[in-house]
Amino acid sequence: MKEGKTSGGMKKEGKTRSSFSGRLGYVLAVAGSAVGLGNIWRFPYLAAKYGGGIFLLVYLILMLTFGYALIVSETALGRMTRRSPVGAFGAFGKGAFFRAGGWINAVIPMLIVPYYSVIGGWVTKYLFEYLRGNTGALAEESYFPGFIADISGVLWFLLFSLMVTAVLFAGVQQGVERVSRVMMPMLVLLAVFVALYSMTRPGAWEGVKYFLVPNPGNFSWMTVVAAMGQMFYSLSIAMGILYTYGSYMKDEVDIEGSTTQVEVFDTAIAMLAGLMIIPAVFAFSGGDPDTLNAGPSLMFITIPKVFASMGFGTAAGVMFFLLVLLAALTSAISLAESGVSTFEDQFGWSRRRSTVLMGIIIVCFGTASSLGFGVWDFVSLLGMSILDFFDFLTNSLMMPLAALATCLLVTRVAGLERIAREVEQSSAFRRKGMYNVFMKYLAPVCIVIILLSSIAGVLGWITM
Ligand code: PFF
Repeated sequence: MKEGKTSGGMKKEGKTRSSFSGRLGYVLAVAGSAVGLGNIWRFPYLAAKYGGGIFLLVYLILMLTFGYALIVSETALGRMTRRSPVGAFGAFGKGAFFRAGGWINAVIPMLIVPYYSVIGGWVTKYLFEYLRGNTGALAEESYFPGFIADISGVLWFLLFSLMVTAVLFAGVQQGVERVSRVMMPMLVLLAVFVALYSMTRPGAWEGVKYFLVPNPGNFSWMTVVAAMGQMFYSLSIAMGILYTYGSYMKDEVDIEGSTTQVEVFDTAIAMLAGLMIIPAVFAFSGGDPDTLNAGPSLMFITIPKVFASMGFGTAAGVMFFLLVLLAALTSAISLAESGVSTFEDQFGWSRRRSTVLMGIIIVCFGTASSLGFGVWDFVSLLGMSILDFFDFLTNSLMMPLAALATCLLVTRVAGLERIAREVEQSSAFRRKGMYNVFMKYLAPVCIVIILLSSIAGVLGWITM
């Protein structure tokens, strides 16, 4: 079916709005958005750094309560108004404060997708090198810093961005949904395979225990703050995406049930990623958890070393980076889709024109982020590289504000009852009591805590 003529298209201002074909299409597309570099690259190193099993436990609790409440809110608001975030906030006719809340939700994905595509470009390059059998070279300590400083990093970024924009041109059902339907099952199979391989290496079992068994001795305040930030990142909350995807959701699709499925999917992949990476690093390092604190470079430096030291390292490398590439692509597509839909809705532009503008934004900010590691490495924003600055600006400052705006929209403007009616239109709202308590009291407090902790962290008042 062609864009704009979908069977489930919603009539809106004379134009037919695109929609997902049904629940499976919706769940796979949202899971495709949620499962990304956050699960495979960020979750394992945070889990390793902030206490292993205890981090996992805190993460699970937060996701099932706080995360759940925010996903339901954004999806219901998107479906109720049939608008992407700016329109959804504007639909209630409130003043400038709420309009700003809509715009902050809408701008976040436009700022994330350029730098996210730079990392996507690195992943594409690593897959290419593994396919060529360059396993030994990738494992050298100097390879990664050398590569990202080189101008060719920009070309890999452009290749990744081209893949993303091609899918966007194709539209919602033909592009976003179709790609997710193929890529997501492939991703699960690859993840199970690589995790089994990693867990069966000699010495890996200690890592499995460290990751899965909670040890209260490892708990700290930062465990909670880090788990909360990761939950936002991983579930694609507070970045306009769920408003947009909710607006493409048919009225009969069960919001509560599909949210639960997305959460299970996202967490399963994050846990598989933990089981791929943490045991492999334990096996490689002879059980020294300090090597796990490798941080962001874990995936590009430590993992290639682990692969090079193992049998079938090249095959493992190809599978692992193919998996990461699929995950990164579907997420980048969703981030960009959110931007495209904002342009379509707010400026009344065609999909084509909106996609072109999104492409230009990606190329401009992404090239700057990429060059920030090479010829522009003298640029320092609040002591950060250009890429790190975009990451900090969006994840640590703008996302908590966007989530707070959603909480206020739900409790002060739309009303908890109206959200409940929207959810109940398609299914029972079993966790309504918990939802209401979270939206009214706990979520705003949690959000302010994340915001203050992030600011204190960057100012050096607390160690993150
Ligand atoms: N949720 C996705 C991930 O975990 O990779 C995509 C994503 C969205 C990542 C927004 C980062 C981000 F700031």
